[in-house]
Amino acid sequence: MHLELSSGAGLRSGLETALRDAVRDGRLAPGTRLPSSRALARDLGLARNTVAEAYGQLVAEGWLTARQGSGTRVAPGARPQQPVSTSVALAFPDQAAGTHLPYDLRPGKPDLSSFPRTAWVAATRQAMAKAPHDAFGYTDPRGRVELREALAEYLSRVRGVRANPDLILVCTGYVQAIGLLGRVLAERGGQRIAVEALGFSDTRTVLRESGLATTDLPVDEYGADIGSLADVGADAVLLTPAHQFPSGVALSPERRTAAVEWAHATGGVVIEDDYDGEFRYDRQPVGALQGLDPANVVYAGTASKSLAPGIRLAWLVLPERLMEPLVRQKRFADRQSPVVDQLALAELIVGGAYDRHVRRMRSRYRLRRDRLVSALATRAPGVRVSGIAAGMHVVVELPDGYPSEGELIERAARLGLAVTGMHMYGGTGERGALVVGYGTPPDHAFSAALEALCAALAP
Ligand SMILES: Cc1ncc(COP(=O)(O)O)c(C=O)c1O
Repeated sequence: MHLELSSGAGLRSGLETALRDAVRDGRLAPGTRLPSSRALARDLGLARNTVAEAYGQLVAEGWLTARQGSGTRVAPGARPQQPVSTSVALAFPDQAAGTHLPYDLRPGKPDLSSFPRTAWVAATRQAMAKAPHDAFGYTDPRGRVELREALAEYLSRVRGVRANPDLILVCTGYVQAIGLLGRVLAERGGQRIAVEALGFSDTRTVLRESGLATTDLPVDEYGADIGSLADVGADAVLLTPAHQFPSGVALSPERRTAAVEWAHATGGVVIEDDYDGEFRYDRQPVGALQGLDPANVVYAGTASKSLAPGIRLAWLVLPERLMEPLVRQKRFADRQSPVVDQLALAELIVGGAYDRHVRRMRSRYRLRRDRLVSALATRAPGVRVSGIAAGMHVVVELPDGYPSEGELIERAARLGLAVTGMHMYGGTGERGALVVGYGTPPDHAFSAALEALCAALAP
C-alpha cells in the first residue's frame, strides 16, 4: 500500500489524512483489508501505536471497520468521491461560456481590478477597532445597525429613497433579497408577479421557485409597459426603473406615476431593482421610484455594481407591513449576512470612501462609454448604439444587412472577445442585438477589447 505522508502535519494526523485521501480517491476500495498496524508501522517507519491510534480514529469516523478475526477494512459505505461534472462546477453557465477568451465585454460585472482594496482594508481595520464583542455573535437579522444607518443616509442623499434604518433589511446579495420577497408575497396569498420581458433570467427563476407565477410585461423605449399591468392580475411588479436591464431605457415619468397608482389602487407591491442607479452620465440621476410612494414600493439596492459582486451585500428598504415577515424569512434563510463585511461597508460609506469610489468609477466608465460610442460610429457606422445614458453596458442594435446576433457573437469569439446578445435576456427580435458591458474589463484590457468589438462589427 502506497501512502503519501505530508511532512508538515503530526505523524498520526498525517497518516489519517493519507488514509482518508486514499479512500476518497478510490485507491482503497470499500472492503479492502488494510495491513495490520504492526506491518504498516514497519513499512512506514512509525511507532505501532501511532498506526493503531490512526486506525482507531478512522474507525470512529466511519472510514474503516475493525472486527476481530477479519482485521481492519475500508468500511463498505466509504465510497470514493465522484468526479465533479463540468455542469455542476460551472454553476453560472452563461457567465462561464467565454471565460477562456482573453477579452470580456459581457455585461453584469464592474471592473473588478478597480475594487478599492486599500480603502476596504482601512475600513475593515476601523470597523474591527470599534466593533463591540457582541457584533460577532448572532445579531439582528435585519443587519448591523451601523450599516442600516449608513445606508439610510446614503440612499436618501444619493437616490432620493425615503429610508428609515429600522425598515432596511441587509441581504446576502440581491438574489437572496428577491427570493425572500417572493416567499413573503406568496405566503401572504400572492400568486403572480409581473416582470419585465427583458431581463436577467435568474430573477425569474428565483421568483418562480419562491412560489409565484411570473408574467412578462413588454418593454419599449419608455420602459416596461405599465398600462398592461391592469390586465395581468398581478400581486406585484418587478421593475428596473432607473436603467432597464438590459435595454438601458429609463422608465418614463408617466409610467413611474402609473406604477405607483396601480399599487395604490390594487394593494399591489412595486419592487424597484436599482442595481446601477449611481452610474448616470449625462444628467442628474433619475431618483428612486420608492421616493414617490414608500408605503407600496420596495427599494432594492446592491453593492455588486458599485463595488463588486463577490461582496454579496444588498439591501431592501421595505414598507412597514412587509418588514416583519421579511425578517422572519431572512432569519430562517441564513440568520444574518456576514457581519465583518457589513461593518466594513458601513465604515466605507460613513468615511466617504464609498462616494469617492463611485465618483471615480463613474468618470472612468463614462470615458469608456464615450470611446465605445465614438469608435463604433466610425468603425461600424451602420449599427445603432442605445441605452448609453447610464450603467455599464450599451445595446448595439444590428441593422438589416448585418450578420445576426449569434453570428456576431461567434465572430467576436474568434477574435478573442466574449460578448452576449439580447436573446440571452429574453429578446425576440429577428436580427437581435449585442449587449456590451464596457465596465467589465480592467483598464489595461479595454482598448484591445474595444478593438476586437470594432473588428467583429466592421461591415
Ligand atoms: C438587473 C440586476 N439586478 C441586480 C443584480 C445584482 O445581483 P446580486 O446583488 O445578487 O449580485 C444584477 C446582477 O447581475 C442584475 O443584473
